[in-house]
Amino acid sequence: PTTGSADADKGEIPPPLTTGDMAGLWWTNIQQTYGSKPSVDGAPRVEGDPSDLLGDQPFFIALAKYFAQYGSVFKLAFGPKVFFVVSDPAMTRFILRDNPTYYDKGVLAEILEPIMGKGLIPADFETWKKRRRVIAPGFHMKWLDRMTRLFGECTDELLQELDRVASRGVVSSTGSVKQQLGSKAQATQSNVIDMETAFCSCSLDIIGKAVFNYEFGSVTNESPIIKAVYRCLREAEHRSTFLFPYWKIEFLNWVIPRQRKFRRDMKIISDQLDELIQLAVDSRDESDLSALESRDYDVIKDPSMLRFLVDLRGEQATCSQLRDDLITLLTAGHETTAALLTWALCEIARNPHVLSKLREEIDTILPDRKMPTMSDVKALQYTRRVLAETLRMYPQPPVLIRRALKDHTIPAGTSKMDLKLLRGNDLFISLYTLHRHPDLWENPNRFDPDRWTREFTNPAVKDWKGYKPNPNEASLYPNEINSDYAFMPFGAGPRKCVGDQFAMLEATVCLAMTLREFDFEHVYDEVGMTTGATIHTQNGLMMRVTRRRDRSAPDARLASDATTSSSSSASVPT
Ligand code: HEM
Repeated sequence: PTTGSADADKGEIPPPLTTGDMAGLWWTNIQQTYGSKPSVDGAPRVEGDPSDLLGDQPFFIALAKYFAQYGSVFKLAFGPKVFFVVSDPAMTRFILRDNPTYYDKGVLAEILEPIMGKGLIPADFETWKKRRRVIAPGFHMKWLDRMTRLFGECTDELLQELDRVASRGVVSSTGSVKQQLGSKAQATQSNVIDMETAFCSCSLDIIGKAVFNYEFGSVTNESPIIKAVYRCLREAEHRSTFLFPYWKIEFLNWVIPRQRKFRRDMKIISDQLDELIQLAVDSRDESDLSALESRDYDVIKDPSMLRFLVDLRGEQATCSQLRDDLITLLTAGHETTAALLTWALCEIARNPHVLSKLREEIDTILPDRKMPTMSDVKALQYTRRVLAETLRMYPQPPVLIRRALKDHTIPAGTSKMDLKLLRGNDLFISLYTLHRHPDLWENPNRFDPDRWTREFTNPAVKDWKGYKPNPNEASLYPNEINSDYAFMPFGAGPRKCVGDQFAMLEATVCLAMTLREFDFEHVYDEVGMTTGATIHTQNGLMMRVTRRRDRSAPDARLASDATTSSSSSASVPT
């Protein structure tokens, strides 16, 4: 697993920005953007339309529109607020890999701090460094191996739910799937299901068990804690569309009903986590790292990340730090993977040739009801290419956010100009446009999983080595290294996603098991995208689900399970 490099230790860390710094910068921005002061940054200026932030069109699509007009670097101004937008591999490499300490998470940290506290994503540098060193080793191979089994078990619950929908023609009467369906586009047929919601429930169940050994059971249930988690995620998204962070004014948090509700929801989640943390601390079994890594995860009762963090010798994190760590892992690891699965299925259902290649591979490597193992996942190479291609076209999140902590210049990449930044300038790395950049990709808007088997270079692009497939494909997904920073769905450098392997294993298992059993057909031609922390569908991924038609006999176990309760994972073959 990615451990985050110690490169972030290099160099002096500039002090965090003060309110005074930011106020001064706003004034400079106004003068440089609308007034008489010359613009020193060197980027073409775009006056943003407020509907870019609040309109029907997702924000990253607005950025793609400006990219088509102004190229891979531009300055987007909304009144005094200015964002530099970059979609350039060489500049991205400079920012994320070579000089990570020049930046913090800026707006993103402001939005997420009330939810994640000092968790890895919004944390200040010192806290991040300490916690990353503890959390990253928790994603060790033996744990990932055990998690692969968990992915299979949770997917099995989803398959049983799908079987009910397919066979009885109704959505389970207690299921959260049904409740959430009501709020989305109405199903027109009884075997229609919103697969976005279904994948969300499945990935929530997985992350709950993996991170703190908590059974959400959200594929078949709707508990107050699940509702609170979803509402908090929606609140984070709501905040990300507001230029003015009104929730920072304490008084307003008591007056505005949605903010009062947010506080209540956070309390529900925190209380639950505190209880789980206390239980883990009370049963602490302190061990050093190598002993933890060689635990027998096949028999261990609680294989969660929380157990690891509490048991690790020499680690005495406070309850509040552990809570922040857990909630960060929960939030970061849940909707991202669900969105990956949603868009993968959306594209597969539109591309029958992709489906038949997938089926050929899945039927060979995972015959019958075989529960996938880690080595099966490695062998599912085409499936993994499909997922990589999905992440290229639908990166989650579509935009990375940084704020410059010091005045500096980013050397010109494919664009022709250096970018001069002032301390406090906000920066967006638009993964969505980078991943569809016409100079970096052949037919960038075509869903083509086989592109990952072909080398691609473009001598016309300055300072970019191109994409080279990894000769040992089983060990590595296409990534930022072999694409020279043109493809970075998990970010890059020391702040790269800590759960990248976890996510790809999870998505591979879930996709392969689902397609092995069921056929899906789009109900609507248009799916539509909306902005969130991840790319959501506009009205759900409404799919007609049927048991696989090209199978000679319906799967015996599924047929019998359809008449029994769905709760037990003990029946799952391992
Ligand atoms: C960071 C993507 C799944 C935990 C990131 C970043 C990206 C990303 C792009 C870098 C953000 C930045 O530089 O600003 C994804 C995608 C996923 C996924 C596409 C699924 C398909 C997960 C999972 C977990 C996780 C499953 C945990 C179980 C984190 C954490 C960070 C992070 C903690 C912050 C790392 C740090 O700053 O040290 N993720 N992620 N992610 N991700 Fe993921």
